[in-house]
Amino acid sequence: MELRTRALQVLQIPDPYEKAAAARALFDGRPTLALDPALMLQPGTELPGRPARPQLMSVLQVPSRSPFTTEGRAALLHAIAHIEFNAINLALDAVWRFPGMPEAFYTDWLQVAAEEAFHFSLLDEHLRTLGKQYGDYDAHDGLWSMARRTEGDVLARMALVPRTLEARGLDATPPLQAKLARAGDHRAVEILGIILRDEVGHVLIGNRWYRHLCKARGLDPVALYPTLVERFEAPRLRPPFNVQARTAAGFSPEEIAYLSS
Ligand SMILES: [Fe+2]
Ligand SMILES: [Fe+2]
Repeated sequence: MELRTRALQVLQIPDPYEKAAAARALFDGRPTLALDPALMLQPGTELPGRPARPQLMSVLQVPSRSPFTTEGRAALLHAIAHIEFNAINLALDAVWRFPGMPEAFYTDWLQVAAEEAFHFSLLDEHLRTLGKQYGDYDAHDGLWSMARRTEGDVLARMALVPRTLEARGLDATPPLQAKLARAGDHRAVEILGIILRDEVGHVLIGNRWYRHLCKARGLDPVALYPTLVERFEAPRLRPPFNVQARTAAGFSPEEIAYLSS
């Protein structure tokens, strides 16, 4: 079995638990798999494979949640589990979709897929201690829609998925941890700590390949970014920014200053 072909198969798996297990198994099994960066693959079904629930709705229809009731906390953790489920899909999509990249690109995104699967499992397990599981609440489709918009260009994908949407998680996590700590959910705080640590790595991978592609095409990464945000209608990020995590994730002071402008 070829690695990118298998990544597409795993992306098509609808069951989230089966998908998470398969993503981790694929990463563990990578030394035994062939990798063909030149392969042009075609999905046989609509992407991504996803379960019948959660029902998807527009971002604006999803109510905001208070962590100070068990119900509200479960809904909040469900929303994060949904982000992680989408993140598995986004990482696998990077592996199969874009031919002609160096081998390390594919193994980097496979590692991300395995870590997202781990995050999903941690959150789902915790959700079960509150009597809920993934699928029990409605969810929004914002993340995959950005994947769709950037499916034609790996450079735009790197700019707008890992270094925009995933990077937003770096900013959002510490305030969320503080809220959950006030609500007394120490396990959730711990899980978010693991996620934050790994997400710095994911954004770093995004930055690495974004810069690699800019260099290959003779483009200035700092000047290009705002034009991509505009062209692909990416969300403009709002402060406060987690400068420490963003610096560790490879953003330059110049790039962090642009966000704050
Ligand atoms: Fe994650
Ligand atoms: Fe991630």
